[in-house]
Amino acid sequence: MSKVFVTRVIPDAGIKMLKEAGFEVEVSDFDGVLPRKQLLERVRGVDAILFLLTDKMDAEVMKAAGPQLKIIANYAVGIDNINLKDAASHNVIVTNTPGVLTESVAEHAMALIFALAHRIVESDQYMRDGKYVGWAPMLFLGNDLVGKTLGLVGLGRIGEAVAKRMTDGFEMKILYYDVRRNEEAEQKYKLEYRDLESLLKDSDFVSIHVPLTPETKHLINAERLKMMKKTAYLINTSRGPVVDETALVEALKSGEIKGAALDVYEQEPKMAPGLAELPNTVLTPHTASATEETRGAMSELAAKNIIAVLNGEAPITPVKLQ
Ligand code: GLV
Ligand code: GLV
Repeated sequence: MSKVFVTRVIPDAGIKMLKEAGFEVEVSDFDGVLPRKQLLERVRGVDAILFLLTDKMDAEVMKAAGPQLKIIANYAVGIDNINLKDAASHNVIVTNTPGVLTESVAEHAMALIFALAHRIVESDQYMRDGKYVGWAPMLFLGNDLVGKTLGLVGLGRIGEAVAKRMTDGFEMKILYYDVRRNEEAEQKYKLEYRDLESLLKDSDFVSIHVPLTPETKHLINAERLKMMKKTAYLINTSRGPVVDETALVEALKSGEIKGAALDVYEQEPKMAPGLAELPNTVLTPHTASATEETRGAMSELAAKNIIAVLNGEAPITPVKLQ
């Protein structure tokens, strides 16, 4: 009987599918990220590993599993936690969960944009602190979105989903930068293609939707933060290291930009010193895809990939190994 190891409790839908497919499924019951040593022990002899973005997958894990390992299925769309070269050299198929979390992450990015513009978090705290003594004309002035410019750094599935919703729905002007131009999306959602520098100079809101790669690490650094308008906001729901977080704290402190909302951090779960003390930030704990619907769908898609591969079929959402 094929064996599947799941590195942490995830929504039951996928686990159920794996069991119904006749596999022996073991789910880690460790309360937290499985320590490396235990991970290496638990994968021994398994045919498939269903793992999380907090697990680093490399030759050491694949070797520990053994030569019968056929597939490692990431419970995430981002693949920066996986050494793809190691997977190729061990003949292991890699899959991720694209598509099923697109809308959820896009909605979260939008929620962060709204929270910044309308100062929701600061105002909420103010109410809870009992500071509200009556309506006041200058209390918590924020910014409207209508007519403003949104700059999307990265126009993959998620960037495009944000564009679709913000163009017609909220009447924003949308610029985008990506290594590839997408003329179809440009026409469909009235987007304007820009180089990164010109996008940063002209946007009121900059939302990041690129994968983390050696090329995108610190894509938003001190120099690029300086290019942004002093009235602009930065939103990151992609991967923490795309933004130089220390430089961001400086830029926020010195008023180089007006505010920032982050769902991801450079050294999760830590935050750069000073970030949490800044009132002009909105911070969420890497929960952009954390809806009941989406996490369930991610669990099912990861399971379907494993079922296909262990039954000798092609995976549904493979990651290209080169
Ligand atoms: C979440 O961050 C993901 O990559 O799915
Ligand atoms: C991720 O799924 C993206 O393509 O944006």
